[in-house]
Amino acid sequence: MTSHCGLVDTFGRRISYLRLSVTDRCDLRCVYCMAEDTAFVPRAELLSLEELDRLASAFVSLGVTKLRLTGGEPLVRRGVMDLVAGLSRHLRDGALRELTLTTNGTQLARHADALTRAGVRRVNVSLDTLDPARYRVLTRGGQLGTVMDGLRAALEAGLRVKLNAVALRGTTGEEIHDLIAFAHGRGMDLTLIETMPLGDVGVDRTDQYLPLDQLRREIETRWTLADTVERTGGPARYVRVAETGGRIGFITPLSHSFCENCNRVRVSATGVLYTCLGQEDRVDLRAPLRGSEGDAALHAAIAAGLAAKPRGHDFHIGPGGRPAVARAMSALGG
Ligand code: 5AD
Ligand code: SF4
Repeated sequence: MTSHCGLVDTFGRRISYLRLSVTDRCDLRCVYCMAEDTAFVPRAELLSLEELDRLASAFVSLGVTKLRLTGGEPLVRRGVMDLVAGLSRHLRDGALRELTLTTNGTQLARHADALTRAGVRRVNVSLDTLDPARYRVLTRGGQLGTVMDGLRAALEAGLRVKLNAVALRGTTGEEIHDLIAFAHGRGMDLTLIETMPLGDVGVDRTDQYLPLDQLRREIETRWTLADTVERTGGPARYVRVAETGGRIGFITPLSHSFCENCNRVRVSATGVLYTCLGQEDRVDLRAPLRGSEGDAALHAAIAAGLAAKPRGHDFHIGPGGRPAVARAMSALGG
């Protein structure tokens, strides 16, 4: 495993995409993501900004060309913009093709310009509803207006924005047409995500679950959808809406169809490498990171993780809506 052949797992999948969580904390408490009283990791266990940079840079030197910062909410991590600005050197020297992040948008108004200056071109913003009262309930206290300001700032700064909406029974079916018009009217793609049974969030998952094929049938009552062959190496399938020219992505993690093309791994804010979102397989990278100044031990640990990357996930919503994987989404940022 050298920088020449890159990171290839035992199933021949080339790993070119790292999703790096910079914090497990968040200023919101979305009902499908976290319990209201979620306990966060003690700060001492989090990687420092310097360690996050070193870790990400090690992956880049091993052939990762796309880096996404996630959370929790990445923009609540103190100093995160220094990290972004530092990592942008890999964009300038051509090793990294894309540096991006997934955010809930609450801090975007403050950071949009700096993100653009650091070479970030696109961001994914999570938004499940356009109704302020519903937003407050879904996020357990969030203000929709804050995200709207963030979206406006991002678009004005020239960032391309993709909206991520989790499909929720009783909500998304009613709002989907407004969401499409809102997103596509502003040049934003919209990705719909089936709820994933990750972590105990204090509610029964089966009450939240809205299958995307059902949602797609609702969409087709109003819009003309054309399937596209566009794939991004991830689990999304895209359709183009004839009336708007915009795209809708469908992410169905409960189907198995995308595992064979999986190009990604995830690292938590504590430095644990997870090679599959839907499995417990993990390798600690923090000890090798802290144990030596050189990166040989770190590279060896990454190689060991890759060698054990599972063929596919194992999602199911168990009896009583219990999660298949105990760790919360907020630990890995999706
Ligand atoms: N199922 C599906 N999507 C989730 N997200 C958070 N928790 C879940 C879940 N249980 C989404 C967020 C965000 C992305 C990072 O993951 O809404 O868009
Ligand atoms: Fe925070 Fe995102 Fe989880 Fe919502 S889904 S609580 S915004 S990390």
